[in-house]
Amino acid sequence: MIIQQPGIQPEIAIQALPDDERVWVPQAENVWFRPLLLNTVTGSWCNLLRVRKSGVLSRHIHPSWVVGYVIEGAWRYLEHDWVARKGTFVYEPPGEIHTLVVDETADHATEMITFFNISGAMVYVDEHGRQTGYEDVFTKLQMCRTHYERVGLGAGYVEQFVR
Ligand SMILES: [Fe+2]
Repeated sequence: MIIQQPGIQPEIAIQALPDDERVWVPQAENVWFRPLLLNTVTGSWCNLLRVRKSGVLSRHIHPSWVVGYVIEGAWRYLEHDWVARKGTFVYEPPGEIHTLVVDETADHATEMITFFNISGAMVYVDEHGRQTGYEDVFTKLQMCRTHYERVGLGAGYVEQFVR
């Protein structure tokens, strides 16, 4: 039994880019996420998002803020005229609607990996702004459990990222 000392909390200190490909959880064609922190108290989460060319993160709105930092590659939002490149910091204000793509306009990149800290939820919307789906820390958690079970890591593998 580990006796917890006062002020010593179970932190997370891990290699963010995994050696094991199975750690990447598929979420759409050519789109994966790698969980780093799934905060079930605040409803927020941190992950790496990996998108390969022709992958699209469908149009969505964030009710709360998001910050990101590009680790590899380049990408853009169809709704904006800037390109996020390696080293770019991104702040997405609440109410922002966008569609993330890796394509020719984004430096002809074939892949991007970006760290995102997402608060609240991602609400997927169609061209009229009508909701078509949503993701929150609990749907992410379930996606991880299902994927890790399927690839042999075991559903419990994700628990190390949960707070
Ligand atoms: Fe977003």
